Amino acid sequence: MVYAVIMAGGSGTRFWPKSTKKLPKQFLSLFGEGTMIQNTAKRIEGLIPQERIMVVTNDSYVDIVKEQLPKVPEENIVGEPVAKNTAPCVAIAAEMLYKKDPEAVMVVLPADHHITDPGAFNQYLESAIAKAKSGEHLVTIGIKPDRPETGFGYIHSDNGSLEELKENKVHPVIAFTEKPDLPTAEKFLDSGDYYWNSGMFVWKAETVLKEIERHLPSMYEEVKAATPELYTNMHEAAVNDFYHACESISIDYGIMENSESVFVVPGEFGWNDVGSWSAVYDLADKDKLGNAVQTTFATFAGSENNLVFSNAEKMISLVGIENVAVVETDDAILVCDLNSAQGVKQIVEQLKAAE
Ligand code: GDD
Ligand code: MG
Repeated sequence: MVYAVIMAGGSGTRFWPKSTKKLPKQFLSLFGEGTMIQNTAKRIEGLIPQERIMVVTNDSYVDIVKEQLPKVPEENIVGEPVAKNTAPCVAIAAEMLYKKDPEAVMVVLPADHHITDPGAFNQYLESAIAKAKSGEHLVTIGIKPDRPETGFGYIHSDNGSLEELKENKVHPVIAFTEKPDLPTAEKFLDSGDYYWNSGMFVWKAETVLKEIERHLPSMYEEVKAATPELYTNMHEAAVNDFYHACESISIDYGIMENSESVFVVPGEFGWNDVGSWSAVYDLADKDKLGNAVQTTFATFAGSENNLVFSNAEKMISLVGIENVAVVETDDAILVCDLNSAQGVKQIVEQLKAAE
């Protein structure tokens, strides 16, 4: 059986003031319909029904997950007592699924990405699932890079033209490099042989457990010792034991950079990891003057290419303003140059320091 594991424990800081520690990005609706996690579950519905979805998130978000994804069985929602990045999340989900179904194939998905062509995405996913089923393979979905982004993992795929890659769909990976520095990312981009890691992975639970045993041996022992199971009342205690024992490391640094059996399915499906308000602006519907509006009342005079985002029953008016995001909540107002949208992180850090 094929299962999805949605990783939803991140506490994104770049969407302040809309996203907060209490309600991070994956639980927000940034594009009108559905929250990010609801859209993640919905777009794979044809391949994986919600009954076969697991969600791994922080303890404090478990109730939000239950509310937003009511069809996901409660036993499939894992609440982490502490955030330890994504490797423990994969390890515990793999162990639980393997116990329930030794043949289980896991589709591991981030909870907060945007995909404009879900039909195409499902086709690439099917190729990745087929490859993962056929052996001891770790399969990732790759994206053609268009800038030397340093916040992503890079996949050096076995040579071949893009056309060949498209036809064959799955290619062996020569090396996986997580978050390179800028000169390295520039070199990768220029070479043309690299893909971004989309952060979506497909493998058998059994296969990834073997890789964890090989590359993160103490984490393997800890997850086996905790004996976490789906559908038992031991669930919570086992999860807590495991998380208190294990180290904090991402699946990318912990497994993907070290494994020798990685494959990539290069995909084109309008992928965006929605990293800042500027990405929300890019993806949003816009009027003739390029203004994107997600609020009841907004007016513009001599203003172009702005994003206005608010739930308030308040008029927001922009005069002679360009390329700016105005985000309004009950607690705060953000006015931000869309070219500096990454800087929102600094505001969150300042607020945290002042707490
Ligand atoms: N359960 C759980 N626990 N989930 C977590 C945790 C955690 O401690 N930390 C992060 N996550 C979830 C996030 O909510 C997100 O959905 C996903 O795991 C990925 O985490 P990020 O923190 O967003 O990772 P990243 O963006 O730095 O890097 C990853 O994604 C890139 C693509 O967006 C890597 O896989 C990169 O290689 C990749 O290019
Ligand atoms: Mg991310």
